Amino acid sequence: MLVVCVLSLKGGVGKTSVVLGLAGAALKKGLSTVVIDLDPQGNATSVLRSRRIRGTATTVLAHPTEESVGEALTRSDWKGDTGDIRLIASDPNLVRFDAWSGTRAFRPKLARAVKHLDVDLVLIDCPPSLGALTREALAAADLAVVVTTPSYFGAQGAERAIAEIREIRDSVNPRLEFGGIVVNRMREKTEEHRYRKRELVQIHGAQALLKPSIPERVAVQQAESAGQPLYAVKSEGAREVVKAFDKMLNRLLKLGKERETAN
Ligand SMILES: Nc1ncnc2c1ncn2[C@@H]1O[C@H](COP(=O)(O)OP(=O)(O)OP(=O)(O)O)[C@@H](O)[C@H]1O
Ligand SMILES: [Mg+2]
Repeated sequence: MLVVCVLSLKGGVGKTSVVLGLAGAALKKGLSTVVIDLDPQGNATSVLRSRRIRGTATTVLAHPTEESVGEALTRSDWKGDTGDIRLIASDPNLVRFDAWSGTRAFRPKLARAVKHLDVDLVLIDCPPSLGALTREALAAADLAVVVTTPSYFGAQGAERAIAEIREIRDSVNPRLEFGGIVVNRMREKTEEHRYRKRELVQIHGAQALLKPSIPERVAVQQAESAGQPLYAVKSEGAREVVKAFDKMLNRLLKLGKERETAN
């Protein structure tokens, strides 16, 4: 099982879209996947449209037991021929878990909860902050993926997120590895975007960029508002983004395998 958390300090850069894009790619590939929506905004929850909800991420954080994880797992409306997606949904009460006083010792709960999952892939969507919920996600993850847009502020946010990954790895989760920076909403024809991408390579090294970048295409918004995976949208733009997420998922699975053999 590979646990990937998707984070960024900056809001609106595409964390949820990356989680959903990877979830769609995993479904198409026949993997069994659980998406954990740790964002009180609940965007991934509304796109994945699960129905019967007996528990949520809030109840799982309150009681990270096998029983509570079982109760919170709900099947998504997204259906594949062989793969399946289940969800641990967000709910507004999650905000209560985001408060963190740096003084009290951090005792991760989600890391205990994910041990009760038995699937191929777990994707965790984080809120736009480096508060306690993102720390929970990092403490539970094998790979941490940072999302940014090709902009000045985006690059600043990515640096802070990478520093946070290091801190969690050094303090509570030695298994955690940096999975790379996803450059989202990339317009290859825009010089400013190419410049910002080069800048990220200069600062973090070419290896740090998770390839490929995700192009900016209206299909991403269309799929989300229809509550469907990207491959259900029939347009050239959708096909481009689907291809990018397929490659990205393969890259992450490969990183996961390399990590396993190294340990
Ligand atoms: N590659 C893309 N092309 C076009 N639109 C995109 C792309 N990626 C994201 N978007 C759109 O940008 C908006 C913000 O994306 P998203 O909600 O995924 O960001 P986020 O980082 O999860 O936001 P938040 O910080 O609020 O959780 C959404 O309307 C989404 O559809
Ligand atoms: Mg989001």
